[in-house]
Amino acid sequence: MNILILGSGGREHSLAWAVLQNPKCDRLIVAPGNAGIAAIADCAALDILNPGAVVTFAEQESIDFVIIGPEAPLAAGVADRLREAGVLTFGPSRGAAQLEASKRFTKEICDAADAPTAAYGAFTDPAAARDHVTRQGAPIVIKADGLAAGKGVIIAETVDQAHAAIEDMFGGAFGAAGAEVVVEEFMQGEEASLFVLCDGVNILSIGTAQDHKRVGEGDTGPNTGGMGAYSPAPVVTAEIEALAMERIVRPTIAEMARRGMPFQGVLYAGLMICNGQPRLVEYNVRFGDPEAQVLMMRLGAQALDLMLAAAEGRLDKAGITWGEDHALCVVMAADGYPDDYEKGSVIGGLDACPSDSFNMVFHAGTATREGQITAAGGRVLGVTARGNTLQQAAGRAYEMVDRIDWPEGFCRRDIGWRAL
Ligand code: AMP
Ligand code: GLY
Repeated sequence: MNILILGSGGREHSLAWAVLQNPKCDRLIVAPGNAGIAAIADCAALDILNPGAVVTFAEQESIDFVIIGPEAPLAAGVADRLREAGVLTFGPSRGAAQLEASKRFTKEICDAADAPTAAYGAFTDPAAARDHVTRQGAPIVIKADGLAAGKGVIIAETVDQAHAAIEDMFGGAFGAAGAEVVVEEFMQGEEASLFVLCDGVNILSIGTAQDHKRVGEGDTGPNTGGMGAYSPAPVVTAEIEALAMERIVRPTIAEMARRGMPFQGVLYAGLMICNGQPRLVEYNVRFGDPEAQVLMMRLGAQALDLMLAAAEGRLDKAGITWGEDHALCVVMAADGYPDDYEKGSVIGGLDACPSDSFNMVFHAGTATREGQITAAGGRVLGVTARGNTLQQAAGRAYEMVDRIDWPEGFCRRDIGWRAL
């Protein structure tokens, strides 16, 4: 079959890598892709936020299956338009994508589904939001309702900080995403993520992961898109996974179906685990980045069969063959990230890294210039390895990191520390 993947990050490189291992894939196009993806698949320039353009492209290229990587095209209704045009598609409708695109929507679904999550208030009026914060006290969490590229969440340590965050959000710091603000109880605990595939009705767990959001070692410094990840997450025991499925994921999927917005695709449940009880922090309606890199490394070619089963509504008959394995991804970022960073520095040593079913350097923000790979983004590489133990996976990943010759880049040396 001819397959089209939408997106251009490390997540999409790992999806492409897994899909290509499956003999069902005859031709793979990734739009727009990146320099690493271009080495294994065709890349095409395409405005992936324009549903009409994506449908026309899929028809021109005789695409049989589309996998949508990031949230923005999902929130723009690309999956709806593809399905209307009869193109088999992995990814939720615009309505179902509200589970990521609107924090208030998600809270209302949790209320209706009786799913444990932080207590909250939703506000369109700054004065009401401020009063709520004054009554609740700090620490407290202030969130822009809409998509804000992972930046729309402020953990306020004091009431003054919370008031300032409310001011900023209603003042347009996150554009339209901040026209509504959700104020949440601060939850204590350890965070982990559970990934499930859904076909609208049936649900299949495809693993757990933990990421490192802070830029600095020991989980310090500013938040980033994620500096590394590992799977499985030991904090998500079988009991906790069962609780999260029964109390959070299943009731959510059922509520979405009841509202006529069946969820089809991958649901990424961010959990806060405290005293053996999981509560929902947030949903994403796509694979995480860099969580996809570790999940794809563990699933390999099965990933395509599973995504097809989700898209075709037959997840009840799908299963996963798990190895007793662990995967870990170390993100290499450009100096300065997550603040300002330079683009264009040359990355050497990539040829010295193995690329096989245990070791892969997935590209995120890369480009090519005169035959050389250059940095073209903040997060640039996802150095990913698999092993029988997390220790072994980490050892392999850092061995590759040490072969990469990129003086203008950096990484955290402690990815996986909580689990190791
Ligand atoms: P989000 O963009 O919703 O994933 O939020 C970013 C990060 O903020 C999460 O990964 C958590 O670490 C933190 N966070 C969000 N909401 C809460 C909450 N209610 N209590 C504690 N931490 C939170
Ligand atoms: N790594 C966090 C995310 O993809 O949202």
